[in-house]
Amino acid sequence: MSWWAAAVCVLTALISSVDSTPLVSLEEEYSFKTWMSQHSKNYDVTEYSHRLQIFTHNKRKIERHNARDHSFKMGLSQFTDMTFEEFKKLYLLTEPQNCSATTGNHVVSRGPYPDSVDWRKRGHFVTPVKNQGHCGSCWTFSTTGCLESVTAIASGKLLLLSEQQLIDCAQAFNNHGCNGGLPSQAFEYIKYNRGIMTEEDYPYHGTEALCQFQPGLEAAFVRDVVNITSYDEKAMVDVVARLNPVSLGFEVTSDFMHYKEGVYTSSLCHNTTDTVNHAVLAVGYGVEEAAGETPYWIVKNSWGPVWGMDGYFLIERGSNMCGLAACSSYPLV
Ligand SMILES: *[C@@H]1O[C@H](CO)[C@@H](O)[C@H](O)[C@H]1NC(C)=O
Ligand SMILES: *[C@@H]1O[C@H](CO)[C@@H](O)[C@H](O)[C@H]1NC(C)=O
Ligand SMILES: *[C@@H]1O[C@H](CO)[C@@H](O)[C@H](O)[C@H]1NC(C)=O
Repeated sequence: MSWWAAAVCVLTALISSVDSTPLVSLEEEYSFKTWMSQHSKNYDVTEYSHRLQIFTHNKRKIERHNARDHSFKMGLSQFTDMTFEEFKKLYLLTEPQNCSATTGNHVVSRGPYPDSVDWRKRGHFVTPVKNQGHCGSCWTFSTTGCLESVTAIASGKLLLLSEQQLIDCAQAFNNHGCNGGLPSQAFEYIKYNRGIMTEEDYPYHGTEALCQFQPGLEAAFVRDVVNITSYDEKAMVDVVARLNPVSLGFEVTSDFMHYKEGVYTSSLCHNTTDTVNHAVLAVGYGVEEAAGETPYWIVKNSWGPVWGMDGYFLIERGSNMCGLAACSSYPLV
């Protein structure tokens, strides 16, 4: 970090701590300590009081949100001791990606479609939720998640595929390791590389390293890449209803970091291709009867099984919420 970047960080930290310094009650400090032990967190003395402030600020925000009538609840998670700025740097894509398919090549059928679909229940088609750790590699998890499902639907074999190979080897297709990439570009890489190895043969470290792809150990293949025309959310329903889960990108804003359950909607996020900063996998959809018949997507995230609804979240469907229909794609195998 250069001196001026450090200065900016210190300044921002000062401003934000002055701005939001809450007086922490004993009860709040107790709940911080409980949370620390649940998440195996340890800090030195200065860090402790800094994190306690941020945690308390976030916890109050969560409680205020939950006291109101929202379609989703917030909750404590492994991220509660972080500011959104810190969170963004560690987990999200910070540069705009080339996320746009003006003319996609998915051919939409006429339907009709079932009211709800869940590929987790259709068979053994979805692998367990993984954890990207401190690396902007969401796009690799969206990619492997989708290819794992598409391969399982085609062959009956549910394999775990290597995100690390995509981090280390897919640069020639506009992917940038821990600094971002796109599922459509990662599928292209797998297609032209003629295969991807398993998680076991090419394990995840969550930091960039030299490409160690080993020909002969390919476990899954991409015959072709299908991009869905930007903002054609109905085409995404067509894919998930008839074919397989679909990779999608959207914009994560500060309210999403604290998501716990229910149908996520936001007025903070944007809805265009240039603000997409996270990639995930839609494994189904449905309609929430309780919340005024809100249609939603069922989405697999890569922040481990403790976050959200066992690692999943629901997000409003049909309104391009947070740009979720901006850049979706899936592979043919
Ligand atoms: C977007 O595409 C252009 C042209 O292929 C490339 O030069 C640029 O690096 C890409 N941007 C990202 C963030 O991948
Ligand atoms: C799909 O998207 C990828 C990456 O953006 C692109 O390289 C590829 O040409 C697209 N494929 C089609 C058929 O449009
Ligand atoms: C984005 O949101 C605005 C405001 O709600 C809306 O007018 C616009 O049609 C949306 N654009 C897309 C591409 O969904």
